[in-house]
Amino acid sequence: MARLTALVLGSAAGGGVPQWNCRCRICTAARDGRVRPRTQTALAVTADGIHWLLLNAPPDLRGQILATPQLSPRPDAGPRSSPIAAVALTGAEIDQMAGLLHLREGHRFDLHGTGDVLAALAANPMFAVLPADRVARHTLPAAGRVAGPGRLTIESFPVPGKIPLYREDDTTETAAAVTGLIVEADGCRLAFVPEIAAVTPAVRETLATADVVLLDGTVFTDDELIAAGAGHKTGRRMGHVPIDGPGGSLQALDGLPGRRIFIHLNNTNPVLLEDSAERRTVERAGWKVAHDGMEIVP
Ligand code: MLT
Ligand code: MN
Ligand code: ZN
Repeated sequence: MARLTALVLGSAAGGGVPQWNCRCRICTAARDGRVRPRTQTALAVTADGIHWLLLNAPPDLRGQILATPQLSPRPDAGPRSSPIAAVALTGAEIDQMAGLLHLREGHRFDLHGTGDVLAALAANPMFAVLPADRVARHTLPAAGRVAGPGRLTIESFPVPGKIPLYREDDTTETAAAVTGLIVEADGCRLAFVPEIAAVTPAVRETLATADVVLLDGTVFTDDELIAAGAGHKTGRRMGHVPIDGPGGSLQALDGLPGRRIFIHLNNTNPVLLEDSAERRTVERAGWKVAHDGMEIVP
């Protein structure tokens, strides 16, 4: 019997590696072939090898599907088909949701998101290309579980988050439409939390129930973008807990059972350099750094 398998379709933050308009040392190294290029974060998960669930749908999704033979139309399924049976979203940020527009070619699938995320979708007329009679919307509870495709269950749990970039100017907005997900089959549990502003004790408790955790590794230090001259916001201000420092994910998840992998890596993050001191630090603490094409079998 096939078992829970996850493929990392993309492992970078919204900018990708390299980022189109960036010549920081890591983007430069990526252009020179000294750092692996990475596309925007998304996962494909299956339990039966037939039905696949996508976790997030970034703008890079079309290329990611084409680069993944497991997601090609099957020869026995008629002229138009796809093994992609469902998509679950962790938020309404551009790099979590905009790639749904690539899935507009008449394919039927189930779409899972929190009420906030489905409301953001409904508020944007472009997503009408995914009509509800073909792309059925299912509301994820703030905390709870629903059935996914092919023996998978999808569990959602609240995580401290942020306002999507395109809603930052709305001063009335305080809630953050971000959720953590745990996908489970046959007792194997994989947690996917690509955006989290702080690792609270409650989040740690939930993550401790997973066999493998994929966690927000956007920045190594909180002021990394500022130090690189690449922006004016801290990691926390962007809704991304830093890896290092007090309250960082290394500290907050020290000793967590199960495998731990950083994903949603910003191109300023020195862990992307395989010979860096920061890469050694995370590896010594028991973490791995995701890359596109990585296969995870919990
Ligand atoms: C974020 O999570 O902050 C995004 O990756 C930013 C972006 O999409 O540019
Ligand atoms: Mn992002
Ligand atoms: Zn860069």
